[in-house]
Amino acid sequence: MPYTQLLPWYDENKRVLPFRGTRDAYAVWISEIMLQQTRTETVSGYYTRFMERFPDVEALALADEQEVLKYWEGLGYYSRARNLHKAAKIVYQEYGGRFPHSHETVRALPGIGDYTAAAVCSIAYRLAYPAIDGNLTRVISRVHGIREDVGIPSVKRQIEELGKAHIDPDRPGDWNQALMDLGATICLPGTPDCARCPLKEKCDAFLQDDAELLPVRAAAKPPKPVPMGVALVTHNGKILVQQRDAALLKGLWVFLLLENDDTPDGLLKKLHGMGIEAALKSDLGEAKHVFSHRIWNMKIYHFEATEVRKKTGFRFVNSEELAALPLPTAMKAARKRAMELLNADIE
Ligand code: ADE
Repeated sequence: MPYTQLLPWYDENKRVLPFRGTRDAYAVWISEIMLQQTRTETVSGYYTRFMERFPDVEALALADEQEVLKYWEGLGYYSRARNLHKAAKIVYQEYGGRFPHSHETVRALPGIGDYTAAAVCSIAYRLAYPAIDGNLTRVISRVHGIREDVGIPSVKRQIEELGKAHIDPDRPGDWNQALMDLGATICLPGTPDCARCPLKEKCDAFLQDDAELLPVRAAAKPPKPVPMGVALVTHNGKILVQQRDAALLKGLWVFLLLENDDTPDGLLKKLHGMGIEAALKSDLGEAKHVFSHRIWNMKIYHFEATEVRKKTGFRFVNSEELAALPLPTAMKAARKRAMELLNADIE
């Protein structure tokens, strides 16, 4: 049995993490959503703050989406926060605030896919579902010597089946988390530390000496660079912000952005179309933000509005109001400059 040494190893070596040690499904759910695409060290602080403010389903369901996004600010993949809020409302309204208990009902909530449903149900309810994330995919493909592209649906299914066949029925949550910890500390991508691995004697890739080549994965498409004009438009000690409607960063606040045109002229035309006349004051340099599919190559300018004919589709906010809004990390450099402009205005 390839995983015999896994739980004994976990019992000795498990990582101490703030979200461990609870079997409250709500808490497990929050942590597992945060942990998607995000490192455990980053999640820890966010998790603690989030749980203090939203300790249960009711607190989250009754909160304003903007506040939920503010607590998510900097974590990225904001649709996770919007779905979390949506799902909390459903649990509050349709299940009386009690987190659903079956895998099927958990899996049906917004933002919960196979991975999250399995993680929550195995950790909180001891249901034997393997939580196949990147770590489990890597460990399982190595242990069982899966040498085909793990992006192929039939290969994915095979990994899922192996997980189901080998998960510990008495401690499924620990089994999943043990593999996550093994994947995060020993069975690393590229440079596995097989010498320290409790599974090595039964690991096909170790025995064949090709662990560093697994899993096989087709190269991901590189993110596409996009030129982006960013206008910091000041007016009477305030600055212009807009709430994003596009899928990327939906619900968050940004400065005036112009995709595929990073020139002052382009930004002035866009402002004109919004009923704002402005004058270019200064060039504030460049900033770059890498998303999973896009790279924003930003040029930041300061404009002073000379005439504001309309007041729809944007807001002018002072520095305090700006600090209270949820802004994405992509706006970090621009926000710093905006704060400098607003504070310079006061002095
Ligand atoms: N990554 C995702 N979920 C995790 C968990 N419960 N423990 C450790 N790493 C994780």
